Amino acid sequence: MVPSRLRARADPRLARLTTQRRHSFDIRLDVWWADLVEPLARLYGERAEETAARLVEVAATAYASRPDELHDLDERRLNAPDWLQRPGMVGYACYADRFAGTLAGVGERVGYLRELGVTYLHLMPLLLPREGDNDGGYAVADYRHVRPDLGTVEDLRNLATRLRGEGISLVLDVVLNHVAREHEWAVRARAGQKRYRDYFHVYPDRAMPDSFEETLPEVFPDFAPGSFTWDDELTAWVWTTFHEWQWDVNWANPDVLIEYADIITFLANLGVEVLRLDAIAFTWKRLGTDCQNQREVHDLTQVLRSLARIACPATVFKAEAIVGPRDLVPYLGTGSHVGKVSDLAYHNSLMVQVWNVLASRDARSAKQALAALPMTPPLGTWICYLRCHDDIGWAIDDRDAAAVGADGWLHRRFLADWYAGAVPGSWARGLVFQDNPVTGDRRTSGTAASLIGFDAGQEELEPSLARLFLAHALVYGWGGIPVVWSGDELAQSDDPEWMCEPGHEDDNRWAHRPRLDWVRAGERGDLRTVPGKVFQSLVHLARVRARLPQLHASAVATVLAGTDDGVLAVAKHHASGPFVGIYNVTGSWRPLRLDVVHAAGVVDPVNALGDHDVTAGPDGLVWLAPYAAWWVVERR
Ligand code: GLC
Repeated sequence: MVPSRLRARADPRLARLTTQRRHSFDIRLDVWWADLVEPLARLYGERAEETAARLVEVAATAYASRPDELHDLDERRLNAPDWLQRPGMVGYACYADRFAGTLAGVGERVGYLRELGVTYLHLMPLLLPREGDNDGGYAVADYRHVRPDLGTVEDLRNLATRLRGEGISLVLDVVLNHVAREHEWAVRARAGQKRYRDYFHVYPDRAMPDSFEETLPEVFPDFAPGSFTWDDELTAWVWTTFHEWQWDVNWANPDVLIEYADIITFLANLGVEVLRLDAIAFTWKRLGTDCQNQREVHDLTQVLRSLARIACPATVFKAEAIVGPRDLVPYLGTGSHVGKVSDLAYHNSLMVQVWNVLASRDARSAKQALAALPMTPPLGTWICYLRCHDDIGWAIDDRDAAAVGADGWLHRRFLADWYAGAVPGSWARGLVFQDNPVTGDRRTSGTAASLIGFDAGQEELEPSLARLFLAHALVYGWGGIPVVWSGDELAQSDDPEWMCEPGHEDDNRWAHRPRLDWVRAGERGDLRTVPGKVFQSLVHLARVRARLPQLHASAVATVLAGTDDGVLAVAKHHASGPFVGIYNVTGSWRPLRLDVVHAAGVVDPVNALGDHDVTAGPDGLVWLAPYAAWWVVERR
């Protein structure tokens, strides 16, 4: 129960609401109270109670100022708690300026998104960043203003409203781990204000930074080595995991939590429906560790998620934790955090494995890795994607590689080389990102088209189309929300002029963030063209997916054993009937034993993607064409 002295902190803020609305707030506070306060005690000890009281105030203020139509949306979402998990969900991610110039421009392109079946739109950072290089907007100077070249806060609200009217949920980043050196908190810290110095990790000398760095990996070893930066004005070292102008905030200080609680409800009240918690893995530091994935990260998320459930339940959380497979599932909730943290998380493992199977022409290590993933909680939903705005880090687990007799380090190296086109026979034309000579680690940049073979000459065109379809079929057929990275729906290649914009020269992730080519988009209806083939194949996947209840995100995906080394088969178990995704990851014909499909429960199988029967020869084998991708279900 909510102690009455804390509950009373809400009263003045709710006073002007109707009895009914006040009552709803009380119910939510009651329901979510335990989830909100339990982690606070672990995080903040004797400051927990006062922090809880301040959170009640934040929740009440936000609730009282939430527009009526968003209260309606809350009601809708509470009535359909699985809205994110339904097979009709399809996502798209882009930079507003690179896609359509401005926020108003995005509104004018809604028709294009609807054609693709989009119901979820992630606009890359658009809150006011620092001037100059700002890591694609991930160095926020002011969370309450929009980049002036894109529009205003009012334009953002209008866009969210327009999208909502079209059945599209707006997704925005909340950069949680750091702010720009130019953010007001950092400005005040630099001016010597103690309250704000405490918002950051500040050290007078190298003693603590050196101790931390013994176990800290570097995120950008090429252009931002080390994790601490000396600041002359601060006359101290400050923690900077990413660039020197991105200052990590100190989440061990409850004042920081309150600030972000306020920012989250501000964005929610503009109509943002999904908040992408950027770089969340890094938010809690612990000496002697890599300072990622600490238990407290999940406690913090639980507090903020509970707050949102009270103030603005239509808004959900997406964890951006690009971490190893075994650290990933806790972001959707494991142990005591089940159902209490993020609703969505990036399926980084699936993304890596899709690229892995295509380069290796072998599905064995992917089967091992995907089968070894811990169970996901029933309301947890994966963001399934082939590419995003970031590089690909080759998160192949040593244990998964070893299980199929491979060496993890060598295999990661092979993948980085393959996708840079540096292995004989490779059709990929990507770029090496952050070559770390100390660890041997290399990552990869490139659009889906450049990585999958479209730049490797005419003879690779047909196989590239087949590979891209296969890759997208895997992503759309896994059961989370498939999210297409802007330009990939038209098979746009890397931007050859990526380095020409000031501030981008050292960061080749800009190669795979091209401006949408609207001339190319004009060919999307013409099946004789590459953009037409690729765009229409995504339209097809979205349509078929929407009518398969088996692809509801709550249906557990199981990798099937007993298939050919070149074939990946994934079953989904759902009350509406079984589903088996079958993918030949090689460029040659491969056999599949029909009894594998029967054993998964499909008696009379058809391929829903091609509308044909799945039949075997007298030997019980079905032959799969090169790069075949089938979604096998029961004939109706
Ligand atoms: C996330 C973003 C990435 C950015 C980093 C720092 O990983 O996806 O683009 O560089 O956070 O904010």
